[in-house]
Amino acid sequence: MSSPSVEITVLVDNNIRPGLMAEHGFSLWIETDDQRILFDTGQGAALAFNAPALGVDLSRTDALVLSHGHYDHTGGIPLVVNGAGKVHVYCHSGAVTPHYAIRNGTSASIGMPRASMSAIDHLPSPRLHWVQQPLMLTERIGITGPIPRKTSYEDSGGPFFLDPEGHRADPVEDDLAIWIQTDLGLVVCVGCAHAGVVNTLNHARHLSGEPKVRAVIGGFHLNAASRQRLDQTIADLDAMDIETIIPCHCTGDEAVGILGDALGRRVSAGSAGEAYRF
Ligand SMILES: [Fe+2]
Ligand SMILES: [Fe+2]
Repeated sequence: MSSPSVEITVLVDNNIRPGLMAEHGFSLWIETDDQRILFDTGQGAALAFNAPALGVDLSRTDALVLSHGHYDHTGGIPLVVNGAGKVHVYCHSGAVTPHYAIRNGTSASIGMPRASMSAIDHLPSPRLHWVQQPLMLTERIGITGPIPRKTSYEDSGGPFFLDPEGHRADPVEDDLAIWIQTDLGLVVCVGCAHAGVVNTLNHARHLSGEPKVRAVIGGFHLNAASRQRLDQTIADLDAMDIETIIPCHCTGDEAVGILGDALGRRVSAGSAGEAYRF
């Protein structure tokens, strides 16, 4: 039996097609024959502008899946939860705990905004799903749950902490991804890939039992990666023989260039307004 097609539209990204709103954030609209999934929500403003501009009616969302709790993925939650009467929300419980980044000696709260937290708080409990382990949304769409950190060279990608003073490093254990089984292999959607994009793909392959990765789309968080990490990431992505690699959001322009130089036409940078059919 062949799988129905999947269409993925980038709703929010740091880069845009003309006429859309750019934002440091990320959101994907994933449409299959029977499910409409919103994966992340950006900070909010770009989602509110871009979704109608792209013909996406957020009130039709069946499932809102949050890749992790950072503000640039969760700010638009009220737009979706308060508008869609039936939406189910899926995230790790760590997504609603405090997260900080400390840069140049300055600590900033980068966790879920208060209004988003409140929208989640007000969800009827049958519609709120804490994803502490792998979960199947449908027969062929899975949420990874927490992703084991196995590679020697990947880390969370930034100066992330659980406390504003920076005493406790934040491994972003709430980080999760979606995988979709298609006839030609997996399509994997990542938010910031704080677990590492290679760790994420390997876990999706393990969970699904499908070794072939057809496509990966999302933020790879390589904007501060060392050349060594980039080279090892490229070697592992190359070995997986992925057809389409779509770096978005926090991958970083320089890293996208290096990935493209090494992996050629398999790499195609994403931006809000791009749509892909698998
Ligand atoms: Fe992000
Ligand atoms: Fe993040």
